[in-house]
Amino acid sequence: MLIPPRDSGFNHPHPSEITPRAVYEERRQMLKLMAGGAAGAAMAAWAGREALAQQAQVVRPNKLAALAGAKSTVAGAATMEKLTDYKDASTYNNFYEFGTDKADPARNAHTLKTSPWTVDVEGLVKKPGKYGIEDLIKLSAQEERIYRLRCVEGWSMVIPWVGYSLAELIKRVEPQGSAKYVEFVTLADKATMPFVGSRVLDWPYVEGLRLDEAMHPLTLLAFGMYGEVLPNQNGAPVRLVVPWKYGFKSAKSIVKIRFVEKEPGTAWNKAAKQEYGFYSNVNPEVDHPRWSQATERRIGEDGLFAKKRKTLMFNGYEAQVGQLYAGMDLKKFY
Ligand code: MTE
Repeated sequence: MLIPPRDSGFNHPHPSEITPRAVYEERRQMLKLMAGGAAGAAMAAWAGREALAQQAQVVRPNKLAALAGAKSTVAGAATMEKLTDYKDASTYNNFYEFGTDKADPARNAHTLKTSPWTVDVEGLVKKPGKYGIEDLIKLSAQEERIYRLRCVEGWSMVIPWVGYSLAELIKRVEPQGSAKYVEFVTLADKATMPFVGSRVLDWPYVEGLRLDEAMHPLTLLAFGMYGEVLPNQNGAPVRLVVPWKYGFKSAKSIVKIRFVEKEPGTAWNKAAKQEYGFYSNVNPEVDHPRWSQATERRIGEDGLFAKKRKTLMFNGYEAQVGQLYAGMDLKKFY
């Protein structure tokens, strides 16, 4: 838990269930249509994960390194690591709008309505606009990228995400010279998100990146994982994945992307400034005030009492992103 909830007057009104299979199938079909682009090809029957994998470009070590403009294969090294089981990735979640227990999002997020869905792109851009989720999915070719996700709480997963670099969208909307940061606002709908309204965070959940971080090719706008559309609990229908930062920077269920001049206030920074800085780069040398960040537990692999694995600088993506922070005191800008 990031910080203990101040208000735990929350109970679970819903029976234990995850998104019904039929809903999945429908959305998987949509993702496939979008990934395929052409309507004709899209008429072919959906044959499971393989079908998307064929259309999506599976990014292996060299490819990922090339994308990031670096020679190192550190980013892609995650592909050599065992993938986290889908079941773990979709049942052990942080999505506080649906409760603070790890099992709550999978139990409760079936109420999230992901269609229709629009994302407003606004602020300091030459071409602001409102994108329907279908258009956003089609905006660029989908790729599969296997990234580690390291949570500030000390656990990690290795997940094959499906999406494209956020830079593709940013280039299209043409940021003005004065745009220095990007703010991500996520859905806060009391009717469908039972924990919105609790005092644990100042809703909506907001995150932010510096413009160059947002433009970095590793920063992914994700619509799917494991070759399927995102389950609601993982941030459907669109989320961010910023693999070199603690997981909380990866905002889920985004409704607004705003280009601004000043560093935006973010949900966790507002909740506990001393504990969660704006940058939040994974850094084994900078402890959280209440615990060390030097090691981590891989969900599904490292048992509770097993020796933990060492956390890598920038979560192992230092070769790709280190230069973004050249000359910065990372203890100060944590
Ligand atoms: N986005 C929203 N809207 N609400 C949240 O509570 N939790 C964050 C991040 N994005 C969160 C969010 C945290 S703390 C983590 S670790 C990751 O989502 C978890 O993503 P996962 O459940 O797909 O592993």
